[in-house]
Amino acid sequence: MARRPFIAGNWKMHKTAPEAAKTAEQLAALVADAADVDVMIAPTFTALEAVRKGIEGSPVALGAQNLFWETEGAYTGEISPPMLVAAGCKYVIIGHSERREYFGETDETVNKRIRAALDHNLIPILCVGESESQREAEKTFSVLDKQIKNGLQGFSLDDLKDLVIAYEPVWAIGTGKTATKEQAQEVHAYIRSLIGDMYAKSLADSLRIQYGGSVKPGNIKELMDMDDVDGALVGGASLEAETFSKIVRFNK
Ligand code: PGA
Repeated sequence: MARRPFIAGNWKMHKTAPEAAKTAEQLAALVADAADVDVMIAPTFTALEAVRKGIEGSPVALGAQNLFWETEGAYTGEISPPMLVAAGCKYVIIGHSERREYFGETDETVNKRIRAALDHNLIPILCVGESESQREAEKTFSVLDKQIKNGLQGFSLDDLKDLVIAYEPVWAIGTGKTATKEQAQEVHAYIRSLIGDMYAKSLADSLRIQYGGSVKPGNIKELMDMDDVDGALVGGASLEAETFSKIVRFNK
């Protein structure tokens, strides 16, 4: 089944609002005619508004890097789903390995965040992936199994129709060490069959699975050529408009 490619940029904790606006405007111009691919950038919260203006009228959609699951209340420092919706977000990245490693994110909090995103019509991008030591100990599939089963606990088939999963091996993030196309394909195929077992073949077939971890203009094409790789979640190489636009236009 043909799935529409989805290339997303995660700007992490980079760029002030004016800097983000500038890159967003450059990117919007560079990918203005990208009709065959979904594109998203997720700037930091303080730059959402500036980026929203910068990408207006372009194919680039807006995403956030995280959310809190409550709608409002006494939660100092947190950002709610309605706040993201009002800021113009369509997508939200959930459970990135940096959140799991540095900010105490667990499969249980990931689950609550996905529920909150869905309740407010934000499309969640669920990030999963094994560490280097887990891969070496041949625990990759069991780690992913746990992250996906716990992260998606309690959701119905209908809840997950737009879900995106990003497979991001922790050892490949920001290291310049990309998974080989065969490694990516093997894990993506595993995730797709797991979703088929948990839900239905129809969801497995339509599910978009992004690869993340040192994606660059030089390796995107071979990754995208793999059957079960439907897109990419790009960190470092998304920070510069020209470079990221080459990833978006991998097919050109
Ligand atoms: P990277 O980051 O492209 O800089 O490796 C990917 C990510 O963390 O999403």
